[in-house]
Amino acid sequence: MTDISGCWDDVHREAARLKPLHLRDLFDADPHRFERLSVRLDDILVDHAKEKLDSRAMASLVGLARAAGVEARREEMFRGEAVNVTERRAALHVALRGAGDDHIPMAGGNVMAEVLRLRERMLGFARDLRQGRVASLSGEPFSDVVNIGIGGSHLGPLMATRALAPFHDGPRLHFVSNVDGADIADTLKPLDPRTTLVIVASKTFATLETMTNARTARTWLGDAAGHHMAAVTSHPAAARDFAIDDERIFGFADWVGGRYSLWSSIGLSLAIAVGDDHFRSFLEGGRMMDRHFRTAPLEGNLPVVLALIGIWRRNAMGWPTRALIPYDQRLALFPAYVQQLEMESNGKGVDRDGSPLRRPSAPVVWGGCGTDSQHSFFQLLHQGTDTVPVDFLLAARPHEAPGAHHAILAANAVAQAAALAFGRTEAEVRAANAASGVSTDDIHRLVPHRTLPGDRPSTTILYRQLDAMTLGRLVALFEHKVFVEGVIWGLNPFDQWGVEFAKDLAQQLLPMVQDGAGTEELDSSSRGLIAHLDHLGRD
Ligand code: F6P
Repeated sequence: MTDISGCWDDVHREAARLKPLHLRDLFDADPHRFERLSVRLDDILVDHAKEKLDSRAMASLVGLARAAGVEARREEMFRGEAVNVTERRAALHVALRGAGDDHIPMAGGNVMAEVLRLRERMLGFARDLRQGRVASLSGEPFSDVVNIGIGGSHLGPLMATRALAPFHDGPRLHFVSNVDGADIADTLKPLDPRTTLVIVASKTFATLETMTNARTARTWLGDAAGHHMAAVTSHPAAARDFAIDDERIFGFADWVGGRYSLWSSIGLSLAIAVGDDHFRSFLEGGRMMDRHFRTAPLEGNLPVVLALIGIWRRNAMGWPTRALIPYDQRLALFPAYVQQLEMESNGKGVDRDGSPLRRPSAPVVWGGCGTDSQHSFFQLLHQGTDTVPVDFLLAARPHEAPGAHHAILAANAVAQAAALAFGRTEAEVRAANAASGVSTDDIHRLVPHRTLPGDRPSTTILYRQLDAMTLGRLVALFEHKVFVEGVIWGLNPFDQWGVEFAKDLAQQLLPMVQDGAGTEELDSSSRGLIAHLDHLGRD
């Protein structure tokens, strides 16, 4: 097997061959391009024919994945080895969706027994609350549930609850994350503390934003606080110190990373919203993707293919950003969820051993929802000076009654990908304008403005319908994609030292902002900002 340096050379050689070719050329040269550059898993289709790729380039990328040790590192992760090398922990989110007969020998024990115990305890509480056996102090059922968390303790439950809205038949769910008092004030304003449960979701139970919001919520609950609060955390002692009763504290292991924790007790708010049958279906979807990721050959392995497309875009083609655009309103928050998943996992500058990376790592991940995005930033995607690769997501079936809506949505998704790829030539613009009676002078004047360069890559992921099982498959698909990219870049996707430092710095600055004093040691900008805030705050 070629060594990894040689494999990178092969990939760059394929890129040099393909860069001068337009996607129009690549499609003209191969009528079977779609069949060659699409992979399936049951109803899920990943069409990457509109990437600046071909089978030879994909083969060089698969060779790179093998040389990087993707298969061996994958097995280490599934076996519960300490793949999170800096924190010397496992990253066993796959166990969270495991079944009783999964045996994961970690540190001599079998983690599945504890995972199942914690899962059943959390799901039992959600079921009791939905059925009124867990009720408010007055005995009334809880009408509203507020999840207070941030990062993975917020984005996952929020995204999933919105995604599964058609199945939501429990209490109303609300989410507070920002320490800006406006967030909790606006959330609590319409609610009644007598029938509201507050869940404090925090792995560390120490994140300043979350604990600040939790204290405000506890005050708002008043005498009911002791009965109307629950905690989801890896630090139960800290939750007890916050006066939350043991039977309302739901745990998860410290080898669960925040951005990988939706499958754990952090999913409590989702289970309350949609019930444990749909939550178990969500877990089953994740388990199905795990089985596929662990067993499918690299060439037809959906997470591996998505990761190799990511490596190709970032390292072979040199594109520093990527847009994720679900044409699925209920996945409107999926870009924000994947943004944390990818940028907090692979936004690193050193490898597992601490040596500086020799190649770029994670791109800037952003996105929006189709079709709204077509009326905001698609202009740049079509005619801007930068190439921004796009991932489209689209269901074949809506939940709403079939009719014009979904056909129009789907037609727009397919059309946008085609327009990005093939553009609109001068000749096509001239012909269209002539046919519509535009004067020759105007045609000549407008042609440069109305041609679209095309050659803008995209991948489209189709699935039958957005239900709990499909959401589980999609979330696990992107988790494993991130993992494979991290292995190829040689970094540790499971820590986040960069954000830890910024949190600590904020704690240091807090008294200076509160008092407007003590800033002598700061840089002149921070000192000037705090002085101005203090001046304006005191007028
Ligand atoms: O952003 C840093 C981070 O640690 C995330 O990884 C995590 O999801 C978030 O903060 C919240 O942490 P906690 O769940 O411990 O409050």
